[in-house]
Amino acid sequence: MTTTAPPAPSAPAAAPVFKPGLEGIIAAETKMSFIDGEKGVLEYVGIPIDDLARNSTFEETVFLLWNRRLPSKAELDTFTAELRANYELPAGMVQRIESCPKDATPMHMLRTMVSALSMYDADADTVEVAGAGKKALAILAQTPTIIACFDRHRRGEKFVAPRKDLSFAANFLYMLNGAVPTEAVARAFDICMILHADHGLNNSTFTARVITSTLSDVYSALTGAIGSLRGPLHGGANEEVMVMLGEIEAEAKKQGKPTAEVVEPFIMGRLQRKERIMGFGHRVYKTIDPRATFLKTFSKQIATDTGNLKLYEMSSQIEAIMAREVGAKGIYPNVDFYSATTYHSIGLKLDLFTPMFAMSRISGWSGHILEQLDGNRLFRPAAKYVGPHAAKYVPIAQR
Ligand code: CMC
Repeated sequence: MTTTAPPAPSAPAAAPVFKPGLEGIIAAETKMSFIDGEKGVLEYVGIPIDDLARNSTFEETVFLLWNRRLPSKAELDTFTAELRANYELPAGMVQRIESCPKDATPMHMLRTMVSALSMYDADADTVEVAGAGKKALAILAQTPTIIACFDRHRRGEKFVAPRKDLSFAANFLYMLNGAVPTEAVARAFDICMILHADHGLNNSTFTARVITSTLSDVYSALTGAIGSLRGPLHGGANEEVMVMLGEIEAEAKKQGKPTAEVVEPFIMGRLQRKERIMGFGHRVYKTIDPRATFLKTFSKQIATDTGNLKLYEMSSQIEAIMAREVGAKGIYPNVDFYSATTYHSIGLKLDLFTPMFAMSRISGWSGHILEQLDGNRLFRPAAKYVGPHAAKYVPIAQR
């Protein structure tokens, strides 16, 4: 008679570990972007970001992220045509945007208006992948129209309708300024869009996936993601970088010294006061962010072409001081550092920097929303309770 060995007792479940900031915790699988923070690598579907920035377009990059492969010429033409067919806002949205207070912060306006788009969609709640993908495409196409419409409204200018013969990047600048941008400026902006499109499970992307996991709608997930992005520790840092460069210039003026002489004491003062230098440091990268490497060369070119070389030189000087002072801690420039100079050189207003990040990142957020829907599991982590137990309820009169 053969005897069967009793099943081995299953290993006791490992005690849950508390990781503040969820640092190092893998919370999702993705086929979109790969990051090696030690080596400074970022790939979209396996293609290095530098290669895409040099050779691709934003439209092609979005197709790549959403379909996990490069398109054929015919597929790209169809995708681009679909995107352009959605540039226009639903009837009533322009008036809604024009009823916003002129002094509203563009990110608050954008978050509110992306949310408002859901009210113009009779089928807003679709969470089936193909249907949700169509919504994502429409929201991506309409976001530039929302931002440009609001910016013109606050300047007292009339709304400029989108042009379907223009690319995503060129059309935005056309709607914003009322003039078609030069090819060089449109391409510069297109590259910024490519570089910001996706970046693993960053805070706003995680937010989008968490909201999606309840089977809420695409509008809610993107609205939440915009709210997350605007924080100064996330996408809001590019505006803070520009504010800092302005403060250094103002200090130089006040002291009657050349800017280059003021940079060192300004940065050292901040570091000594334990203040953060915006545009530096990253939870994942412990070397220079590969997007910053590309943007550095690129921002030098565009700053030279547009007469903003002084800003670039100031940034470069700050980078050298930071490498000397905190490089050993792995604090290097991130994507926001040189994108500030680039956006400024393109002529964008300071408070539009973070909306530009959002405009591009809607593509990445959407890709993650679709990945989440395709094999959803509700996010529901646990909290470690650190409060009292068996406490007595004291009636209010006795407290
Ligand atoms: N300037 C000076 N010191 C810094 C900076 C900085 N920007 N960032 C981190 N450090 C120091 C920090 O003081 C700490 O030093 P110590 O160990 O001596 O106390 C050490 O580096 C580690 O800091 P941490 O806060 O534990 O690092 P983190 O992984 O939580 O922070 C970060 C990541 C992005 C929040 C932080 O680097 C930061 O606040 N940077 C400035 C804001 C910024 O540029 N954000 C944009 C991020 S990239 C765009 C995006 O993906 O959203």
